[in-house]
Amino acid sequence: MKNFLGLRGMGRSEIERLVTAAAEIRDAIDRGDELEQSLAGRCVANMFFEPSTRTRLSFDLAIQRLGGHVLTFFPETSSSLKGESLHDTAVTVAAIGAEVLVVRHKEEGVPEKVGEWTGLPVINAGDGSNEHPTQALLDLVTLKRRFGSLSGLRVGIVGDIAHSRVAGSLVHAMSPLDVDLVLIGPGEWLPNESAVAHTDDLDAIIPNLDVVYLLRVQTERGGVIDDEYITRFGMNARRAAALGEEAVVMHPGPVNRGVELTDDVVDSPRSLISEQVRNGVPTRMAVLRSLVVGGR
Ligand code: NCD
Repeated sequence: MKNFLGLRGMGRSEIERLVTAAAEIRDAIDRGDELEQSLAGRCVANMFFEPSTRTRLSFDLAIQRLGGHVLTFFPETSSSLKGESLHDTAVTVAAIGAEVLVVRHKEEGVPEKVGEWTGLPVINAGDGSNEHPTQALLDLVTLKRRFGSLSGLRVGIVGDIAHSRVAGSLVHAMSPLDVDLVLIGPGEWLPNESAVAHTDDLDAIIPNLDVVYLLRVQTERGGVIDDEYITRFGMNARRAAALGEEAVVMHPGPVNRGVELTDDVVDSPRSLISEQVRNGVPTRMAVLRSLVVGGR
């Protein structure tokens, strides 16, 4: 694996290999084992041109747990403000000594361009509405730990499908794994044509789901929150009561409490939101290790 730009086109065995590796690292962290220092002496730069809490911090810790050095680039206090171009910024970070770049940007395709300009391996930490592959992988890790197998799992992804890079990556990740996937949201946020099933009727479908995956409404990308949206697609106690006993609720964060989910659902035993965050570090460790030392 030279880059980790997206899950589109990635085969089942490659996805399963990464999920298994991440789950093993999670177990090792939980046991307090000494972790393999696959990045010892290597330098990884975090270049986030969009806000982030979970993704950036978990890449930071993932790099450190593998023994690597972290270079953190903050656009709001960097020479980007003096007009330095993206190209010149990326080449500069490479010249300083970064050997792997983790890139988030509001424009689709920027991580790939940064890889071309610098010749370095790049991990996509979210590009526009396109992909956020480490998020989808950590979601698969979370589901595998909860349900054992992903095959046949009935998953509904709810909300701002059109603008969500998380949905983009989840669709590519779940299709090869035989997940029974349905996209749920207002008609204008659903794909016109898609190989994936879709509906705008959450209440009709909710009793059939094992997993309800709520997406944040992407207001910065054109998504609009209004009362009708909350009424039709918000996850609340009434809808949670319609779920089967074992069914779970997920969200990539940050949550708009009272929009995608009410407080009682966020904090209920069905919610895997904290588990998703917890699995972010081992998942990013598995991806970094795979880029630097190759597959296993
Ligand atoms: C996601 C993102 O940035 O795409 N956040 C995250 O990384 N957990 C989801 C979102 O912001 O809606």
